[in-house]
Amino acid sequence: MIYLDNGATTFPKPECVYETVDRFGRTAAVNAGRGAYRAGREASAMIRQVRQSLLSLCDARGQAEVVFTHSVTVALNQLILGLDWKEGDTAYVSPYEHNAVLRPLQMLKKTKGVRMEELALSPDLRLELDAIAKQFETRPPKLVSLTAISNVTGYVLPAEEVFRLARPYGSFNLLDASQAMGLLRLRFGQLRADAVAFAGHKTLYAPFGIAGFLLREGREKLLREVVTGGNGKNSLSLDMPSYLPEKLESSSLNTVAIAGLQASLEWLKDRDPWREEQPLALRLRKGLEAIPGVTVYGAPEGTEQAGVISFNVEGFRANEVAAILDHRHDIAVRAGHHCAALIHRRLNDAVYDGTVRASIGLFTTEEEIDALLHAVSAIDREALKGISADILRGNC
Ligand code: ALA
Repeated sequence: MIYLDNGATTFPKPECVYETVDRFGRTAAVNAGRGAYRAGREASAMIRQVRQSLLSLCDARGQAEVVFTHSVTVALNQLILGLDWKEGDTAYVSPYEHNAVLRPLQMLKKTKGVRMEELALSPDLRLELDAIAKQFETRPPKLVSLTAISNVTGYVLPAEEVFRLARPYGSFNLLDASQAMGLLRLRFGQLRADAVAFAGHKTLYAPFGIAGFLLREGREKLLREVVTGGNGKNSLSLDMPSYLPEKLESSSLNTVAIAGLQASLEWLKDRDPWREEQPLALRLRKGLEAIPGVTVYGAPEGTEQAGVISFNVEGFRANEVAAILDHRHDIAVRAGHHCAALIHRRLNDAVYDGTVRASIGLFTTEEEIDALLHAVSAIDREALKGISADILRGNC
């Protein structure tokens, strides 16, 4: 298989991650933070160390704490639903946000009368800072939520600039770095973010089952716990502890996945993912743009292009293209709407039923990009024969 669905999850993982998960799972996978025995203490120490590594990765030591969750969706729900919302409060999102941000906000819209506003985009789909400044002036933001990198087009959003505009209004600035932590150099201090959410299994190359967020010190006071339960601290109290990370962390942590994350963070220290992936991202984009009948949905001209790029082929629904690439060439790409409800309206891709998305990772090679480009140029209707109707519709 040629795997070009790294936006969904990076695959494969580095060998050291498999080795660590296996070894740790067999020899050390006890529950952390609960037992006085040595193995339990060691698991807790390992987890503390991973928290420090994540802070270092984002230059956030001394400024933030790491809270772990089982998935980034849970992390984003905690951050969004945990704020003290009042009717009429305004939450701003970029039109590039994922449903993990949009659906909690939609719920707040229905249950609490919160307003969800889309940040202004220019016709070429970049965030328009002047217009955004006016939006904030008209309706001050309670929350601004931005993805660091679009999971549809690979646009690197100007988060720092937008957060700078929002800060004077006391906005809670949330960066969804699911597609970015480990790939982009995130500098917590400069960003003016209150929280940065991450998914271990994407650009951090860890297994599924570990995610979370960096939360600026003191901001825990703004957040109510969304999930409560045991965590081994203050067990005689029915209230969650008031301090981080325990205030916002309940249930057994996934120590095996955290050990895997520790291994992947070590592995990433020797690499420069952005620099390594750039030539491939540009090769992919230019290659797709050169194929007649292909429409490319990439980052706006003049902005940086991450290795996530969408496209369509004239005459085919997005899912048909993905099915052909799989069936004929064993190439794995994602097709459809990528859980990003708002941006597709702007891409005008309804006739294609979404987009085909190719996304690269640190194990992607030039040959694999070229194989995709070759396969896309060779697509014809003949190729649809022999593929089941369910697969062609994307019902799988
Ligand atoms: N959010 C993930 C993606 O973009 C699953 O594919």
